[in-house]
Formats: sequence, structure tokens, C-alpha cells
Amino acid sequence: MAMPRTLIAGNWKMNGLIPDLSEIKTIADAANSASAEAVICPPAILIERSSSVASGTTLRIGGQDCHPASSGAHTGDVSAEMLAAVGATYVILGHSERRSDHGETSAMVAAKAVAAYRAGLTAIICVGETEQERVCGTTLSVVEAQLAASLPDAANASNTAIAYEPIWAIGTGQVPTDQEIAEVHAAIRAVLTTKLREGAKEMRLLYGGSVKPSNARSIFAIPGVDGALVGGASLKASDFISILSAAPLRET
Ligand code: PGA
Repeated sequence: MAMPRTLIAGNWKMNGLIPDLSEIKTIADAANSASAEAVICPPAILIERSSSVASGTTLRIGGQDCHPASSGAHTGDVSAEMLAAVGATYVILGHSERRSDHGETSAMVAAKAVAAYRAGLTAIICVGETEQERVCGTTLSVVEAQLAASLPDAANASNTAIAYEPIWAIGTGQVPTDQEIAEVHAAIRAVLTTKLREGAKEMRLLYGGSVKPSNARSIFAIPGVDGALVGGASLKASDFISILSAAPLRET
């Protein structure tokens, strides 16, 4: 069977306790009949249980970060191999909250992506401009530079997806216009083509930032959008499932 091209990934951030696994169970039950690929990235401590809950369904589980090294003296960190060992198949890298809260540079993000590939994980690499950069008209150059520096040479369509997440749209209810999203996605595709050539062709480009049931269908209709990275609306199964069911059937 062809793989669904549309990817809907939920980022639970630092939310969720054991009782919330019931949301993952409900999402897993719905994932099999969805036309898009569904991923939930819970906090690291819930990955193993989430993987068990999702086992036997098409729902995939991911981490929210990983360390570049496979093991060692890195207090508090989790390696890509550790994520894979407890059932993760995806990992979000370079989220703007990691970049701002933990000072992650694009070079660090690229090193983490290499670690993800080493462990057999698919990396969802995030890029996006601040409100100030949007206002100053530097969005495209900022996103292009971030992407070029965050993307390892070994990136390809099966080991990587890119999430365009304008920082000012995350958790704010604000969303760029369709045209603004289309313009940034086209710029991202151009960088991918220059850097990776054929390898970039099928790479999935997600939009993230205040995606919810009420706007998902119109966001998925924007040219160049292959799915979504969803924060707040991924915490409740009913919201996430309605976003999932708004995704069009596209196969690679
Ligand atoms: P949001 O978060 O959907 O709550 O805006 C998106 C994200 O940070 O990935």
C-alpha cells in the first residue's frame, strides 16, 4: 500500500500524565481509518506507554528532542537511540521553544538530526520567523538561512519532514494568510531542491502554529502544505481527530 503523503503530528510539549494516555488510545483507534499519517509526540516519560497503547495501529509516536550523542555524561538529556528503544519512530527537532528556552542553534539541530537518522528516526525539523522578522520583511531570508543550517546533507524524504512554524502564530490563535504560508513553503521547497536535489522532491512540508479543527481544512488546501504540526489542539483526541479527518488523501 502507498504511504499517505499528508502527515499530521501532535506536539504535546510539557503536557500530559498517565491518565492522558486515554487520549492517545482514542487517537490510535481513529488513526487506522484516517487518510493521513498520524504522529503524537508526548513528553519523553510517556513515550514507552504511548507506544504500547498505539501498538497494532497506524498511529506513530515521537519524541520532542534528542541529544546528538548516543549515550554519555549529559545529565537530563535523552538520546535518539533511547527514544527508538521505547518505540518512537519520529522526533521533533529545533522547535522554537527549544531554540529559545535552551539556546539551540541550527548547527545543533543539524547534529541532532544526524543522531535521529543514526537511530532510524524520522526528524521533523522546525523553522520559523519571529513577529519582528515578519514585520521587517525578512521572513524568507530568516527561514531559508535557518533551514539551510539545520538540515544535514543526509536528509531525504523518508528520514525528514520540515515544519514551518511562525513563532508569532504558536499558541496565539493568529495564523498567517494562505498566501504567506504558500510563499514560505515555496521558499522552503526551493532551498531543499538546491541542497538535496532529487532527495527533496517528496519531502513533506508541514505548517504549524494555531492549527485547529476550524482552520485545518483550509490550511491543507494551501499549495505546498503536506500536513500540520499541532500543539494545543493535539491534547484532546476529539480535536486532533477532527484535524486528522480534514486531511486530504494524498499518497506518495
Ligand atoms: P500550537 O503549537 O498549535 O499550540 O500553536 C504549535 C507548535 O508549537 O508546534
